[in-house]
Amino acid sequence: MGQQGPSNNRQNNRRRRALKSFLNPPRRRSGNYRIRKQRHKRRDKDVPMQYERLVQWATKIWKERNPDKPYVTIWASAECSNRIAQQQVKPGRRLKGRARYEGLEPLDAPVIVPISDYSARGKQTVLTSTAGAMAYKFSIPESGEHFEVIYASSYFDDDVQDLTAIALVEERYLETWAAFEALCGRVVRPRIQRRRDVYIIGGTDAFFDPVVEWSDVILDESLKHDIFDDIEAFFSEGVDIYRKLKLTPFRKLLLAGVPGTGKTMLCAALAKHALNRRRIVVYVSGSDRDGATFEKIQRAFQAVANARFPTLLIVEEIDAYLRGDDKARILNVLDGIESPNNPKGTLMLATTNYPEVIDDRIFKRPGRLDRIFIVPTIEEEALAERMLRHYMAEQWLDDHRVVVPKLVSQPGAFVREIALHARMLAAHERKTVVTTDMLDKSVDSLLKQMRLDGNFLAQRRPLGLEARPPIRRRAGLDDV
Ligand SMILES: Nc1ncnc2c1ncn2[C@@H]1O[C@H](COP(=O)(O)OP(=O)(O)OP(=O)(O)O)[C@@H](O)[C@H]1O
Ligand SMILES: [Mg+2]
Repeated sequence: MGQQGPSNNRQNNRRRRALKSFLNPPRRRSGNYRIRKQRHKRRDKDVPMQYERLVQWATKIWKERNPDKPYVTIWASAECSNRIAQQQVKPGRRLKGRARYEGLEPLDAPVIVPISDYSARGKQTVLTSTAGAMAYKFSIPESGEHFEVIYASSYFDDDVQDLTAIALVEERYLETWAAFEALCGRVVRPRIQRRRDVYIIGGTDAFFDPVVEWSDVILDESLKHDIFDDIEAFFSEGVDIYRKLKLTPFRKLLLAGVPGTGKTMLCAALAKHALNRRRIVVYVSGSDRDGATFEKIQRAFQAVANARFPTLLIVEEIDAYLRGDDKARILNVLDGIESPNNPKGTLMLATTNYPEVIDDRIFKRPGRLDRIFIVPTIEEEALAERMLRHYMAEQWLDDHRVVVPKLVSQPGAFVREIALHARMLAAHERKTVVTTDMLDKSVDSLLKQMRLDGNFLAQRRPLGLEARPPIRRRAGLDDV
């Protein structure tokens, strides 16, 4: 479960940065932020902007290859040079406007550094976004016309990892080009079919099957009931009402609470329930090498918009997206400006363990989140006892109740941990009975560990929705 070592440090650093940028927000960026930034650079260094170089290069090539043919220069979609599109959109493919795609010719463009990204698709690792230059060829079989589009995509600068693409095309063929771009977009973007598992965006696995049962989540029943009811009411009645009011049916819930209180578990159990109700579940993971980027949220939204089924969208650790340049965009999402338009309804379930950060910017601004549920640490002895019984399972003895008062104010993960540790102690002594003394020792040693380590449980936070990952033990705890 909890990753330790460097990756954990990275995550903590990320969090710190998120917190810092939240407290000292940079100036709000406008839509053409990137272009302005470049212009600013140009004034300083007198360097042409990258898209200008692309256009200059493409113009020269056009004149060599298609002398006397008029053209227009357009912003193009970076998805056309994506390797997935290049592999899947095959020559011979029919396009709107009675046209046919005939294939591509790679071009050598000294202004572009050819470079590809890669990611996991299902079980395979494949090349994806690619910077490069191409002549895309088309024909219109009916009239025997042949034409090409000169295309170039490149990165703007070191900071912004977005490809920018331009194309030179004869204006009368714009419709065919638009159809080709749309086709490339469709094959590159994730397609969601109805399936029995959770669709993951980011992360190393494409799908997973949640196994947490609703009854496994031990929390105050009225809180569980409220969360469950909110989601069900949205899908059963809310979606229609939103639509009648001409609103995008998009509801946003936030689960906020300190680490280890069961937020991920709640998400997993709700994901399982949603699948049983034949809804689609999309989970945005910040745990792959790209971290928490807005691009992932966008991909998730595209997937959701194409889903055409009621969808549960889970975004864990939403605070991690609220940093730097991405912050304004995520706030746009929360404000509904960039909502995924899925007529069947999308419910976003986000989690955070920085409720205090969320508080200022979002909590106090009505409309950004429809509802915030605080997932608390164990608030009373009755719940602590239920949790302890659950995790002691067959080893439970009534005498174990004596440790219950010490469990109040701790998160659920603490109880699981001490129950496990007490069993380990029994195993070391080759016993199958867990004595109260063993349990008590476990509580004390974990409390001690937490004092030494700062927040021990926070460091063990799971990185994804792996519902029941193998439990890794930390050195030190076993040595008591
Ligand atoms: N309310 C709970 N009921 C039952 N088990 C719990 C509960 N809370 C925590 N646990 C146990 O602790 C583990 C960790 O909890 P979980 O990952 O759901 O916490 P979290 O709130 O998502 O933490 P974080 O904020 O660090 O992501 C769970 O897999 C489960 O075994
Ligand atoms: Mg979690």
